[in-house]
Amino acid sequence: MAKVKSKWICQNCGYETAGYLGKCPECGSWGSFTEEVQTSFKPQSVTPQGFLNDTKPALLSDIHVGDEVRVSTNIPEFDRILGGGLVQGSLILIAGDPGIGKSTILLQTSGELCKNSKKVLYVSAEESASQIKLRAERLDINSNSLYIYPQINMESIRAEIDNINPDVVVIDSIQAIYSGTITSSAGSVSQIRECCSILMQIAKNKNITVIVIGHVTKDGAIAGPKVLEHMVDTVIYFEGDKYKSYRVLRSMKNRFGTTSEVGIFEMGPKGLTGVTNPNELFLNERSKGSIPGTAIVVTNEGTRPLLVEIQALVGTTPYPTPRRVTNGVDTSRLLQILAVLEKRVGLNLSKQDVYVNVMGGIEVDEPSADLGIALAVATCARDVVVDSQTVIIGEIGLSGEIHPVQNIEKRLNEAISSGFKKAIIPYANKIKYDKIEIVPVKRLIDAIAACVSAQ
Ligand code: TYD
Ligand code: MG
Repeated sequence: MAKVKSKWICQNCGYETAGYLGKCPECGSWGSFTEEVQTSFKPQSVTPQGFLNDTKPALLSDIHVGDEVRVSTNIPEFDRILGGGLVQGSLILIAGDPGIGKSTILLQTSGELCKNSKKVLYVSAEESASQIKLRAERLDINSNSLYIYPQINMESIRAEIDNINPDVVVIDSIQAIYSGTITSSAGSVSQIRECCSILMQIAKNKNITVIVIGHVTKDGAIAGPKVLEHMVDTVIYFEGDKYKSYRVLRSMKNRFGTTSEVGIFEMGPKGLTGVTNPNELFLNERSKGSIPGTAIVVTNEGTRPLLVEIQALVGTTPYPTPRRVTNGVDTSRLLQILAVLEKRVGLNLSKQDVYVNVMGGIEVDEPSADLGIALAVATCARDVVVDSQTVIIGEIGLSGEIHPVQNIEKRLNEAISSGFKKAIIPYANKIKYDKIEIVPVKRLIDAIAACVSAQ
């Protein structure tokens, strides 16, 4: 008989101990330990393609690999973040908040794959077959090579994969399925880990692509889940403001392509459509005319520059400690910029609340947006404006100097094609352009002066 043992596992990070702990020593969360009874079993060996039953070390030069086979999803924005399509034999995790559109994009992808004469098995562990059918009708998907399988048992799923032999399997979602080899409940760390490892074996042994959906919990981690991120080949996050129509797919890890690539989609009555010119979408929302406290920055998201508006609001605080509230920008980055503004420009905001917002609900984490953030704050505090036809590019150093940024030409070309007339850029990136006036600046104070003198 199998040996039964129990462990206490932190449901937040997967840390294991023999007894109960109030606080997790790994991730610091409180009350996150639950007891999971486990039956020991012999794990099956993973035998990825090209290494079948090969247990002997081989010289790197002797190892022969064929070209990796990629299958296009027919959705260009999705293909781009995948690095050119789905790689056969890979395990992909798509994580995001509930209701963001994970099931929608994967059902659409399944429909497109079927058009390319691929066989897809869509395992729905959360919705019934008729619910999926209703969604498919809404999305105009009608295929006779798309199998919908409402199932939560991993062993049954495995049997059907053997039976149907699909090219692509979608698991919606990993938190809702369970394996009979473990007694803990579905969604627990052990279950998620076990089911993921079984799916990994299936993907590698049968050389099929497995796409797994994972819900992000309140803390921002996928439930039970940091565990999953290192097991899978590709991790893609689905972000966006649920109250707005656009969504951003961002690749965080990709064993078969670059990361930091983004795909932008718009959610409409007929599902998600790729946005080919996102700048139009983001700048559409822009305040008309020049208003103190707004600046347009050009960030570089993956291979593509994005023009986004930064808005700042500065006002006298009613609180003993002034508030620093950000949306779409890292708060510690703002604190650093405020410190530089105070020390190097003499702009004292210690009695002022500062709010910074990135329009369009996207995250700007690239340092080239620093100068735009600083100018939005400084112009609001001094009640002057950055001309609405100007883009701002530059990273700010602690001594108030402006550091150069990468891909300046790509950014400027994007600004030109969106109709901007002037660009404030780092001096070290100085470049001659006919179609746009270039203002190279060495220090933050020069950039502020350039805005004020233009009034
Ligand atoms: P869904 O894919 O079910 O989200 P998830 O799987 O990430 O939980 O998407 C749910 C939301 O998308 C829901 O609020 C309705 C909206 N939606 C549309 O706006 N248009 C559509 O065509 C579809 C299918 C969904
Ligand atoms: Mg869903």
